[in-house]
Amino acid sequence: MLMKKKPGKVIDISGKLSGGKKRGKATDKPVMRIIAVTSGKGGVGKTSITANLAFALGNIGKRVLVLDADLGLGNLDVLLGITPRYNLSHVINGEKDLDSIITAGPGNMNILPAASGVQELTLLTKKQKKEITQALDRLNESFDILLIDTAAGISSNVMYFNLTAQEIFVVVTPELTSITDAYALMKVLSMNCSRKEFRLLVNMAKNSREAYEVYKQLCVVTERFLDISISYIGFVLLDQNVGKGISRQRIVSDLFPDSRASRCISSLAEQIGKWPPFFSPDVGNKAV
Ligand SMILES: Nc1ncnc2c1ncn2[C@@H]1O[C@H](COP(=O)(O)OP(=O)(O)OP(=O)(O)O)[C@@H](O)[C@H]1O
Ligand SMILES: [Mg+2]
Repeated sequence: MLMKKKPGKVIDISGKLSGGKKRGKATDKPVMRIIAVTSGKGGVGKTSITANLAFALGNIGKRVLVLDADLGLGNLDVLLGITPRYNLSHVINGEKDLDSIITAGPGNMNILPAASGVQELTLLTKKQKKEITQALDRLNESFDILLIDTAAGISSNVMYFNLTAQEIFVVVTPELTSITDAYALMKVLSMNCSRKEFRLLVNMAKNSREAYEVYKQLCVVTERFLDISISYIGFVLLDQNVGKGISRQRIVSDLFPDSRASRCISSLAEQIGKWPPFFSPDVGNKAV
């Protein structure tokens, strides 16, 4: 079991690692569920949703790790009010192991922080991707869920992190450009990388009806032009409280647990918490 630590503290889980399971082999124990939170368009709320979902999943007893996969421009630590000493840049340049940079966040969540302002990390090499995949595999027994907060766009890094995941949550807002960019992202992932299943999460919706309309709108075009399936996972309402905590470096689920957005996040976490566990890590193994 991971110890609950003060936010910002580095957690030592080195004694808990399984030694790594090969991807693609079924195991008799559930494997860590890897969920990529992605979007196409920037600024649609990926980081906010990832952080709040991690907090809410931690509250229902899940062992959650969040990977800030916006490698060169990470800001999850800022949002959470933690100042990690080490980040993924130290892992990539060989100074640190992945498990030794895990940092405690608020609630029960743990973070794999990204660097900020490190341009070379925006394009990982094949070798670096392979090393990250192997290192993540070694965390299999230490966490129930790994949430990956991707960068916006369709860069090679974004593709890689999406392919690492078993589940891809596509975040859209009711804005048309967000919908078209989500379409473009799913098109690239399906045509170039054979990923056919996506879950849609509508953020900043005025109400549940508007959110569902966005889902239907996207389904109409994807059904016509793409061979993919999209399941609707739900929505997070537009809520000014989401931004209110930013200057205080606290997330809305922590600061205003009864706000509209926090309630939506809690119900998403409840839903995810009930999903049956994975026993084979072979779904997201096409990343490298
Ligand atoms: N449900 C919501 N209601 C109101 N504001 C929101 C909501 N979700 C996110 N926001 C606001 O939208 C802005 C962008 O959010 P966030 O940084 O999480 O997006 P992002 O998709 O991670 O952006 P990027 O693509 O730059 O990484 C923030 O100011 C955040 O407070
Ligand atoms: Mg972000």
